[in-house]
Amino acid sequence: MSNKPQLEVCLSPALLHLFDTKDRIVVIIDVFRATSTIAAALDNGAKSIIPVATVEECIELGEHTDNSITAGERNGKVVEGLQYGNSPSEYSKDFVAGKTLVLTTTNGTKLLHMVEGAAQIITGSFLNLSAVCDYLIKQNMPVLLGCAAWKDRFNLEDTLFAGMVVDRVKEYFDINCDSAYAAEQLHHSLNGQKPIDFLKNSAHYKRLSAYGLQSDMEYCATVDKHNVLPVLHGRELLIDK
Ligand code: MLT
Repeated sequence: MSNKPQLEVCLSPALLHLFDTKDRIVVIIDVFRATSTIAAALDNGAKSIIPVATVEECIELGEHTDNSITAGERNGKVVEGLQYGNSPSEYSKDFVAGKTLVLTTTNGTKLLHMVEGAAQIITGSFLNLSAVCDYLIKQNMPVLLGCAAWKDRFNLEDTLFAGMVVDRVKEYFDINCDSAYAAEQLHHSLNGQKPIDFLKNSAHYKRLSAYGLQSDMEYCATVDKHNVLPVLHGRELLIDK
């Protein structure tokens, strides 16, 4: 038997109950766009991000948190009552430095709140691929890569990212999980193609394109643009120093 820690990939929140989340690092993945926005805002100096499950909680907490911004989306659109959306490009240094972002999204923050008993929860996206991989290797603990997907349905972008992580870290882990293998094969199927060109086939790319958000997705598909590691401490995501 291998003495390396286990690594598994959960392709949808609907499958989460089949996986052990206890005592492992759970990586929340929502490439388009929640975990990309989280990496961008923290790298640009946000004090912290508070992910919340509902719009009501977001508004309520925003009212009671100093120097905060309420942000998020439902079905990809900014929700009435929230101040800002879920575009990483909205959170420039000038705007976000020193602020707390209270964030609610359709799938990403929902998955984060579904996870129980994890040793740590971190967030991953192409923007912080290397930070995530380096951290997982260093921690030497069991890992679950959790794809936020779209309303429980498999999606290409989160799976592709999970596959890139598997490819980078696999020699350090014991991987006996068909979804991890499938995600890695998806990554290899790119065969030199840029992630964004492949991801133009994804349903969420098409959904967000209808709102004119193509540049957001180009941004989200850039590898290591915001190479920070967001870690959940209590209710807040903070950069691991
Ligand atoms: C989500 O959590 O589903 C999203 O990040 C959707 C989006 O803003 O595009």
